[in-house]
Amino acid sequence: MKRLAILTSGGDAPGMNAAIRAVTRCAIAQGWDVAGVRQGYLGLIGGDFLPLHARSVGGIIQQGGTMLGSARCPEFMTSDGQQQAVAQLRARGIESVVIIGGDGSQQGAAALSQAGVEVVGVASTIDNDLVGSDITIGVDTALNIALESIDRLKTTASSHQRAFLVEVMGRHCGYLALMAGIAGGAEVVAIPEVATTPEAVARELCAAYERGKAHAIVVVAEGAQHNAAALTAYFREHHSRIGFDLRITTLGHVQRGGQPTAYDRLLATRLGAYAVDLLARGEHGVLAGMRNGRPAATPFADIVGQRKALDVELIRLATVLAQ
Ligand code: F6P
Repeated sequence: MKRLAILTSGGDAPGMNAAIRAVTRCAIAQGWDVAGVRQGYLGLIGGDFLPLHARSVGGIIQQGGTMLGSARCPEFMTSDGQQQAVAQLRARGIESVVIIGGDGSQQGAAALSQAGVEVVGVASTIDNDLVGSDITIGVDTALNIALESIDRLKTTASSHQRAFLVEVMGRHCGYLALMAGIAGGAEVVAIPEVATTPEAVARELCAAYERGKAHAIVVVAEGAQHNAAALTAYFREHHSRIGFDLRITTLGHVQRGGQPTAYDRLLATRLGAYAVDLLARGEHGVLAGMRNGRPAATPFADIVGQRKALDVELIRLATVLAQ
């Protein structure tokens, strides 16, 4: 009987549980034996496994987070760590692993695959920066959380004719900030991929007031060159010239919590089921992602060290729409 392990790794993302459920139940339907690994690669190295049955994954589809736990595990980036992980799998007769996670997790998946394990990755990160998947598990939920906050801030901003800055997650990728900015009707969006200056942000906000706007919203990615802290400091320093302050809301990990949206549950379910299909067909060493609306497999060799390019043309659209 084929033995399969599942782990979730890196930053958690709403929908990971739906993916665990789909992998587990689809694998059981194939007649396979399924184990979960606690705390991602940390648990793989340490041998922290638990058996998974159809009932073990009941009642989790609507829950955020991951029932298996997750971790960032630098130890797994070393060849010692990888060898220990392979030994733990071999000791249990487990030949296949499904790894649900983002960029760093899929790099680990590629290393495990090179070490001779049958590995399929499942694209899951709120950052949406993974090559090989147009959209990743957790993005839709995170975006909706950001939008709810922006909508609420707009209400109070309008009452007081104020400017608000909302910082969203995204260390290297401005996807969340750009999409939240467009869908939330922000006046300014600042992302790592596009250089801007505090002066330019101040100019755009002043221009928005002059056009008669009752509020102004700036959405900033945490990895933007001038993040929330830098912009606030600039606005404080130049308060008398600019004429107003920026009030700051940093959403942080709030975006990773809470119930996954219908979209994320369905995406996670489809990708989890697809990962099992791939293994059943003998395909591994690939990332299961969504391309052009359909599940598609991309070899790890094509994704490692790559970062998905953001359509920065959309920032122009955001500017046009903010007039
Ligand atoms: O990769 C997902 C992400 O949420 C990024 O947007 C963010 O920069 C990072 O994880 C935060 O990591 P941690 O939860 O380890 O602080």
